[in-house]
Amino acid sequence: MKSVDLIGIGMTKFGKRPDKTGRDLLAEAMQEAIMSVDKGIDPKKDIKALFVGYFTPTLYEHQAHYGPLSTEWLGLTGIPAFRTESACASGSAALATGYFAVASGIYDLVMVAGVEKMTTLDTPGVTDALSVAADNVFELPTGITFPGLFALMAQEYFEKYGGNWEDLQAVTLKNHYNGSLNPKAQFQAKISDIAQKIAIKKNVTFKDEMDFLKSKYNPMVAYPLRLFDCSPISDGASVAFLASEEISSRFTDKPLRIKGIGISTDTIALSGRADLTTSEACVNASSAAYEMAGITPDDVDIAELHDCFTINEVILSESLGFFKKGEGLKAAMEGRTALSGDKPINTDGGLKSKGHPVGATGIAMVHEIWKQLRGEAGKRQVKGNPKIGLTCNVGGSTASSMVFIFERSEK
Ligand code: COA
Repeated sequence: MKSVDLIGIGMTKFGKRPDKTGRDLLAEAMQEAIMSVDKGIDPKKDIKALFVGYFTPTLYEHQAHYGPLSTEWLGLTGIPAFRTESACASGSAALATGYFAVASGIYDLVMVAGVEKMTTLDTPGVTDALSVAADNVFELPTGITFPGLFALMAQEYFEKYGGNWEDLQAVTLKNHYNGSLNPKAQFQAKISDIAQKIAIKKNVTFKDEMDFLKSKYNPMVAYPLRLFDCSPISDGASVAFLASEEISSRFTDKPLRIKGIGISTDTIALSGRADLTTSEACVNASSAAYEMAGITPDDVDIAELHDCFTINEVILSESLGFFKKGEGLKAAMEGRTALSGDKPINTDGGLKSKGHPVGATGIAMVHEIWKQLRGEAGKRQVKGNPKIGLTCNVGGSTASSMVFIFERSEK
């Protein structure tokens, strides 16, 4: 197997993008990815195949066949291309497929991408579109939604390990703070800024951030999760280029080496699981990735975890071995996962604040690792010259889990 390097990456701003279709978003992200390649890339000559993650284009854009559609729109007609689907991990599925293709020696350079254009539907429409990632026989007939599934995890976590919704707001506050430093984020605002805006608009006062978060302006979505515990509905795209170790120095002297990859699955329905407070798929995927990279969880300097709902950041931080079982919430409350903490998590604001255009998320997580490991993250740059970064992107209620480990390598 050949080693695989990340040589360039780009993403659109996430949020409501009414002026852009999915294919337009891909073109925008690709443009930025091209600009990020230190020594330049000639897409027509250098890219040998394209893998694009998009969960449900048929529901959002009445459009399937995104492989050739993307090659046509991006000026790459003729190369092999197809869409990958693994619910909210569809982007990581593209990344994994691209990795396999380069590692196997079939292609020396591929483009991997992710996109989702969600705001064509209203909230009930998006809720229905997302629901197809759950089990249509054993879950959906109960009327449960994704906020509801993760709310069950939160309830079991608090019951088993203590803590409560107020404690969980450490994740909300942190991720909104980090998002306020990220120009690509959907919500570039701290909770205190949002509270102040609403206070002026509605002529009300809030004692502090928690007073706002407990108010009717943070309505209940699925007990105990409220609006600011949820990732939003977003449009966006992300694009990356992967090259074999033999040719990557033609494109950059500062690539990120993919040191480890782990992929695992679990039952789609939560009813099939013995314990809702651990993601077994993430335990298995991360163990495989650590083993391949020859590292332990302690060696990871920064991580991007799938905080589709605040509780999931806590559960994943434990499932990945960063903290012992039942101690992830305490670690978040102590600031250990903040920008200045010993294990910074979701430095770009996470799905919570950066946004979650489902198919684009996996590669957007890698975008943050690229920025941080290359020292290009601006105001949110983590100190101490981070060297190893990890992404954990999941589909559904973590029924598919994909973990990647990246290492900065300077040639
Ligand atoms: N966090 C913070 N603010 C949010 C938000 C979120 N997740 N979602 C919407 N808002 C804001 C909007 O910007 C808007 O603010 P404004 O009035 O200042 O413009 C306001 O809240 C109302 O937005 P709206 O789109 O009408 O909210 P909604 O009630 O229709 O939808 C959710 C809110 C939480 C139900 C929706 O975002 C959702 O379903 N999220 C989960 C998506 C999901 O399940 N993804 C897959 C994960 S596995």
